[in-house]
Amino acid sequence: MEIKNAEHKIKVLKEKLNYYNYEYYINNNSVVDDFIYDNNLKELIKLEIQYPELKSLDSPSLKVGGGVSDKFNKIKHSSPMLSLANAFNEKDLLNFNDNVVNIIKSNNVEYVCELKIDGVSISLIYENYILKRAVTRGDGLTGEDVTENVRKIKSIPLKINLPSAIVRGEIYLNKNNFKKLNQIQEENQEPLFANPRNVASGTLRQLDSSVVSKRSLDAFFYYLADARNNNVEKHNDALKLLRDNYFPVNPNNKICKNIHEVITFIKEMTDKRNDLGYEIDGIVIKVNALNYYSEIGNTAKFPKWAIAYKFPAEIVETKLLNIFPTVGRTGKITYNAQLEPVQLAGTTVKAATLHNANFIISRDIRVNDIVYLKKAGDIIPEVISPLLKHRINSSQKFKETLNCPECKSKLERIGSEVDQYCINNLCKRRLLRSIEHFCSRTAMNIEGLSNQLILKFHTNGFLNSIVDIFELKNHPEIINLDKLGQKSYNNLLTSIEKSKEKSPEYLLFGLGVRYVGLKSARVIIKEVQNLNNLFTIKYDDLINLPDIGSTIANSLLDYFQIESNVKQLKKLIELGLNHKYVNQQVSDLFANKIFVITGTLTQSRDYYVNLIISNGGKISNTISQKTNFLLTGNNPGSKIDKAKKLGVNIIEENYFLEQLKLSKEQ
Ligand code: IVH
Repeated sequence: MEIKNAEHKIKVLKEKLNYYNYEYYINNNSVVDDFIYDNNLKELIKLEIQYPELKSLDSPSLKVGGGVSDKFNKIKHSSPMLSLANAFNEKDLLNFNDNVVNIIKSNNVEYVCELKIDGVSISLIYENYILKRAVTRGDGLTGEDVTENVRKIKSIPLKINLPSAIVRGEIYLNKNNFKKLNQIQEENQEPLFANPRNVASGTLRQLDSSVVSKRSLDAFFYYLADARNNNVEKHNDALKLLRDNYFPVNPNNKICKNIHEVITFIKEMTDKRNDLGYEIDGIVIKVNALNYYSEIGNTAKFPKWAIAYKFPAEIVETKLLNIFPTVGRTGKITYNAQLEPVQLAGTTVKAATLHNANFIISRDIRVNDIVYLKKAGDIIPEVISPLLKHRINSSQKFKETLNCPECKSKLERIGSEVDQYCINNLCKRRLLRSIEHFCSRTAMNIEGLSNQLILKFHTNGFLNSIVDIFELKNHPEIINLDKLGQKSYNNLLTSIEKSKEKSPEYLLFGLGVRYVGLKSARVIIKEVQNLNNLFTIKYDDLINLPDIGSTIANSLLDYFQIESNVKQLKKLIELGLNHKYVNQQVSDLFANKIFVITGTLTQSRDYYVNLIISNGGKISNTISQKTNFLLTGNNPGSKIDKAKKLGVNIIEENYFLEQLKLSKEQ
C-alpha cells in the first residue's frame, strides 16, 4: 500500500474506532459487533506497525478506552486499571507464553485461567475494614464514584477482614435476570435492553440507587492490589483470600501447569460457555507466581503477565427463506425472517427479527440470501447482514409491504417514525391482539379468557371489542361452544367481574394507548384519581408528571381525540368498571418479585397475599425458575425441595415479618 493510501486508511479507522469507543464507554451503546471492532483495531495496529511514522499520540490503539461522564464525582485510581491484551488463537497464546518464558527463564510457567466475565469493571477501596469507595474504570486512570450504587449490590461485602484493600472485579447481570427484566420491559411497553452488559453499565450509572436494588446485579472479583503485602505469593492464593473475605470469586478457575494445559482448558470452556448462567466473552490467563509480575512488567495499556483469549464472536451463517410482516395490537408492523434452522449459542434458531423496512433496505437483505446471524446479548436472534458473495443472480431487492398483512388496509407512517402502522381499528389481528393484551396478567388479569377462547368467541360473533368482554354474561349460549361447560363459563364470569374492581391504571394500560405502559398509566391515574378526568386532561397537566414526556402526553391526547375511544371508555365505566384510583401499594419493596406461599402460617394466606401485593410483589401458585421467594409456614411439604433444586430463596414466616418491619423502619 502506498503511504498516501495508508494515511487515509488510518484516518478513517481512527475516526471509526473513536466513535465506537465513545458510544460504548460513554453512551453504553454497542454500535458494532465485537468482531468488527476488533478487526478495525487489528487493521489499525497493523498499519501503524508498517508505517510507524503515521502513528500519532491520539491513536485509539493507545487508548485503554472511553472517558468519564459528568454525572458522578471523578476519582483518580491509586494505580491504573489496566486492560488486557487480546489473544484470538493458539498462535497468539504461544507468543504470549514465549515472551513470559524468555523473561523468567523457565520453560513451564504456571498459569491461572479464569473466565472473562462480560460486565463492567469496578475497583473497591476498603479502609478500616469498611467499603469506602467504589469507582468505575473510566479511562483507566480516572473513574466515577459509584459507591452508593455498588453498596446496593447484594454480593458485595461492606465489611471485610482486611484493614485496608483495593479489590477489583466485574459487575454483571445474570442471564435469567436479564430475561426477566426484558419481560417486564415488554409488558410495560418500555424499550428492550440489548444485552446484560448494557444493563449492568447503565444501572451502575443511575443517579437513583434504588434502581440498582431492583435490578439484582451481581459481581465476581479477580484482583487484590498489593496482594504480597498479605503474605500471598500466588494469584490463586489471592483469589482464596478474596473468597475468605466474602468476595464472590468465580469457581471456574483452573491452575494450569503450562500453556498447553491452558489451551485444553479454553477448549473445554468453549463448549461449556452456553451452560453458564451469565455471559463470558473469553478466558483470562494470568501468571500464577506474583513475584514475577514486576519482572515481566506492563506496557502503557496492558500487563504482560496476563492475556485475554477472546472467543470467536458467535455468528453463524444461514439461508433467509422468507421475509414476512406481522401486525401488533398498536398496528405496528414488524418484519420477521424465516430462516433455515441453525444452531446458535445453545439453541436452534428458525426465526429472527428484521425490525422495520428501513433495517432491511439499508442492509440490502434479500430473500434467498445467506445471512450472518447473531444473538443480541446471546438471547434475541438478529440478522446482521447478507453475504454478498453467495447472492444468487435472480435475487430480488426487498420491497416494503404497502398493505396490512391481515386486513390489507393501506399502511401509514406516523410523523417521522421509521415504523409503518395499520391504522384500521377494525383490523382483525389488531383487534384480537388488543383484546389479548387487555385480558393479560399485567393488564386486567382476566383468568380463563385465553387467546384460544378469545379467537373462538370472536369467530362465533360474541367478541368484537373490549366492551364485549363484559357482555359475555348475557350470552349463556357460549357454554355449548366446543363444550366449554357451565363450570368454566361460571369461572370465567367470576374473573371478569373481579377484574372490574381493579384500580383503573390497569384499565388504562389495558386499552393499549401507544407508549402508555403500566408505569406511566399508574402515574397518570394517581394524578387524575378518576378515569372521567382523563377526558379533559391538558397537555401541561401531563407533561409536568414524573416520567411523562411529550411522546406519551401527545399519544394519550390523540387517543381521546378519537370519538370511538372516548365512547369505549365511557361504556366501560357505565358497565361498572372501577373508575376511582385505589392506592393498594404502600411500597415498592417487592417490586416485580414473585412469591409462592406454602405451609401452615400463623395468619391467613390472604393476609400475606395482601402484604406482598401492597408492597409491589406478585403471587404465584407454583414454583418455577421465575419464582423469587418461597414463603414458608409449618409443614411446608414438597415445595421446599423444588425451591431448593431451583435455587429459589426460602424465607420463613417470622423472618419475613421481621425483615418487612426492619425495612419500613429504615
Ligand atoms: S484481569 C490487570 N480478570 O476484562 C488485570 N479482567 O478486557 C486486569 N475482565 O478490564 C484485568 N473478567 O474489566 C481480569 N477474570 C478477569 C476478568 C477481567 C473480565 C474484564 C476487566 C478488564 C477487561 C479487559
